[in-house]
Amino acid sequence: MTQGLTRLGDQKIARIVYSEEEIRARVAAMGEEIAAHYGPDADLLVLGLLKGSFIFVADLVRAIDRPLHVDFLVASSYGNATVSSGTVRLLYDPEAEFEGRDVVIVEDIIDSGTTLERLVPMLQARNPRSLEICTLLHKRLTTLSREARWVGFDAPSEFLVGYGLDYSENFRHLPYIASL
Ligand code: IMP
Ligand code: MG
Repeated sequence: MTQGLTRLGDQKIARIVYSEEEIRARVAAMGEEIAAHYGPDADLLVLGLLKGSFIFVADLVRAIDRPLHVDFLVASSYGNATVSSGTVRLLYDPEAEFEGRDVVIVEDIIDSGTTLERLVPMLQARNPRSLEICTLLHKRLTTLSREARWVGFDAPSEFLVGYGLDYSENFRHLPYIASL
């Protein structure tokens, strides 16, 4: 714990919500659940949403003991709360072949759910064989039209940082998850 705290410099966090050990155990269990969900014929593509999911994806795929591919997407934030474009803009899109594949979208945290509500139909239109959502954290503020199949933790509705999650690009490198 002290090891992580030294990374903060003079920036303050309020409390640690999920410790490194809790995260490690939960991610290992999620990896096993995902591996068990897919049959031997599945063509698994783990698709991380950057940047927030980068650490989670790195740990999660190492806990999924079966063949898979990994790729990433960068979706634009929907920006000002007043602007509602109806679609997310994909700033980086590998255009990996989806047809006939079993895609798992990996998110760091579901807050309003807006990102996924808009992204899922866009990705569904590429005709994957199956499309599931895996998120480390879910604030449960909303019900998605396609709910996440795998959820690491039901998170408190506080602003969380660490393990990939940022506040103004800071704190992503913390090995635990904390509230500001
Ligand atoms: P949503 O579209 O409102 O569900 O928000 C999803 C994105 O907002 C996440 O992928 C995060 O990048 C960001 N986000 C939402 N809540 C938090 C938080 O508590 N801490 C850090 N980032 C957050
Ligand atoms: Mg973010």
